[in-house]
Amino acid sequence: MAFEEMWRDLSPVGRSATSGGYFRQPWTSAESELRAWFAEECAARGLTVETDGIGNQVAWWGESDLPGVLTGSHLDSVLDGGAYDGPLGVASALAAVDTLRARGVEPERPIGIGVFVEEEGSRFGRACLGSRLVTGATTWDQAKELRDRDGVFLADAIADAGLDPSAGLLSLDRVGTFVELHVEQGRDLVDRDVAVGLASEIWPHGRWRFDFAGQANHAGTTRMEDRHDPMLTYAMTALAANKQARLAEQRATFGRVAVEPNGTNAVPSLVTAWLDARASSDDALASLVASIERQAEDRAGRDGTGLTVTAESVSGSVAFDADLATRLASLGGWPVIPTQAGHDAGILSDAGIPTAMVFVRNPTGVSHSPDEHAETADCLAGVEALADVLVELAGA
Ligand code: GLV
Ligand code: MN
Ligand code: MN
Repeated sequence: MAFEEMWRDLSPVGRSATSGGYFRQPWTSAESELRAWFAEECAARGLTVETDGIGNQVAWWGESDLPGVLTGSHLDSVLDGGAYDGPLGVASALAAVDTLRARGVEPERPIGIGVFVEEEGSRFGRACLGSRLVTGATTWDQAKELRDRDGVFLADAIADAGLDPSAGLLSLDRVGTFVELHVEQGRDLVDRDVAVGLASEIWPHGRWRFDFAGQANHAGTTRMEDRHDPMLTYAMTALAANKQARLAEQRATFGRVAVEPNGTNAVPSLVTAWLDARASSDDALASLVASIERQAEDRAGRDGTGLTVTAESVSGSVAFDADLATRLASLGGWPVIPTQAGHDAGILSDAGIPTAMVFVRNPTGVSHSPDEHAETADCLAGVEALADVLVELAGA
């Protein structure tokens, strides 16, 4: 099926009728539908899909025992996310195999198309959970303690989706190289006026949970000076994080907050807020987070509230194989650019697998939003670029 047809088929899955954004959380019906879609697309190409015990998938084209070239991405989304982040890499991988076949290419090395689960960490809070488990960066013993917002344990969510973690995880033994195509999540390619680029590095980034504890009290009868209001401590921390990141030319975001008891006429007893912080080096990230924490502690002291900070998902800087990026970029004269977004490619690179990323221009740069977009012509240019990259890596 041509790229445009695959894209049309994917379009309604998990889409909100109100916002037009996507809710494709892992181990939900939308994601199961996407997993089935992927298996059908592979079957239509005569490829057999292997699905592991947690829902990671791979299908290999070619029988050779030489180390293979894996390409692909993820199908899950952030809450109310865009259509392209993840699925573009999967549909492009399938379309690139079609392109190679249409060109009459018979690759010397096997080419695999893979899908990793829970890349966004939107349900269990750990980014790239599927690829982390597969590479051993996270162990099952660590992961099985995770719960989603409704208190559902990871193992139960997986079982509810009809999968069995004890069935084992995908093996990466066959993978000699990994290439992930992804929509760009910034405006670098727009500014350079090119449709396609290669990745040089991923900024270190992570998620920290801030628990601000206060004293529940009456919103009317409690004098302002008698309050221990954790909302205030949180609000000042959010402002401090923004200022600190701007001053240091880094990134800090509080995008998720939970308030207890969340009543209009009561001072809250607890505010839990999640900091997403990213920086250009591991040291810069550590010092950014330390400085936000320090300012939060300071403010908590003045508000008479308590603060606990827990690191939930931290990824160090990733430098993709520079020779590989240069070699692949020369195929199309593509620029090699950094990204501040996390990817399964970073996890596989950390695991010692030579890894590259192909970016496709995003005209607005907007991502993790229903407004995320890529023009069809650019997506097709991405498929051609990926096909060229696969020929270079797999040999023909
Ligand atoms: C994943 O897209 C991330 O960068 O958070
Ligand atoms: Mn992604
Ligand atoms: Mn994403």
